[in-house]
Amino acid sequence: ASLKPFNTLGLNSRARYLASLSTEDDLLAVLQSVTAKRLPVFVLSGGSNVLLSEYIDALVIRPLLRGIRVLDDSPQHILVEVMAGEEWHPFVQYALAQGWYGLENLSLIPGYVGAAPIQNIGAYGVEVGQYIHHIKAWHLPTQRWHILQPEHCQFGYRDSIFKQQAGDWIISRVVFCLSKQPQLALSYGDVREQAGTNPTPASVAKAIIQIRQAKLPDPKKIANVGSFFKNPVIDLAHYERLKVTYPALGSYPQANGQVKVAAGWLIDQTGWKGKRMGSVGMYEKQALVLVNHHIAALADVHKVSQAVQHSVFEKFAIRLEQEPVLVKF
Ligand code: EPU
Repeated sequence: ASLKPFNTLGLNSRARYLASLSTEDDLLAVLQSVTAKRLPVFVLSGGSNVLLSEYIDALVIRPLLRGIRVLDDSPQHILVEVMAGEEWHPFVQYALAQGWYGLENLSLIPGYVGAAPIQNIGAYGVEVGQYIHHIKAWHLPTQRWHILQPEHCQFGYRDSIFKQQAGDWIISRVVFCLSKQPQLALSYGDVREQAGTNPTPASVAKAIIQIRQAKLPDPKKIANVGSFFKNPVIDLAHYERLKVTYPALGSYPQANGQVKVAAGWLIDQTGWKGKRMGSVGMYEKQALVLVNHHIAALADVHKVSQAVQHSVFEKFAIRLEQEPVLVKF
């Protein structure tokens, strides 16, 4: 089965088997039969953060479970349970329309709800982990359902237990605790400027949508998987040495004394912005986003990725780490 329609980088990839499942019962039935056959499984959700190899020798599962249900409604908060196969952005818009606040800054992120906790999606000062109440997930090694509270999820920057123990977990439901009072997160200058003088959750969401549309390519038009590298964290001494030569290098101080720097800026400085090798290149409006303009194989992506890593290392002595997950079976 071809996975090309199911990954936003548009890579040609085939799976040994492909199953689209829409209930937890179907999911369990399929998992039990593959465990008996010792066939590996891989869960492919929106495919907006994966690099698929050409042949995936596994059963690829697409979790299409749908549904949104209120579990608890108090004057201050709402507990809302969302099935893994609900699309992320429409859910964020739905919550906003109901007056359930907190997720506005995560507007327009592609993909499905079940994948959001895996890399703890984050943008403009908000990470999804902040609003998660609990998660229901199937644990393959122990063959049972688990309920995970945020403290069990090991949420970090683009990280969680589900990413660290990839292959062990299948998320079926995510329960959010959203606020009935506006939760404005205005730490980003662009967002503050565009959200107006009396910002509201709706005006913040609108600002985020405009900022993203101006900088990030729509995967439906230009194939991409969002940021292709993580923003690197370097030692303060390293940062201070670089700052002498590059006074424009911005920094976000970390709790441990190190500093996070913008990978997009580093790549921009090497001249890679808008540059391509064949079909693959770095986006002209945001150097951190790798784009596939036509037809590419994983090898073409690796070539550009390695060339960018090399250029950044030569210039700044910083190693960029890839952000999307490489899928190989
Ligand atoms: N910059 C440049 N040139 C570029 C790109 C960026 O100079 O080509 C500079 C910008 O001017 C800015 C800084 O780099 O000063 C940071 O850029 P931006 O605000 O666009 O954010 P980012 O650090 O590149 C991160 C996330 C995005 C998220 C935004 C907003 C990562 C890896 N990426 O990008 O997440 O939307 O912040 O919070 O952390 C994603 O993960 O796919 C993603 C899009």
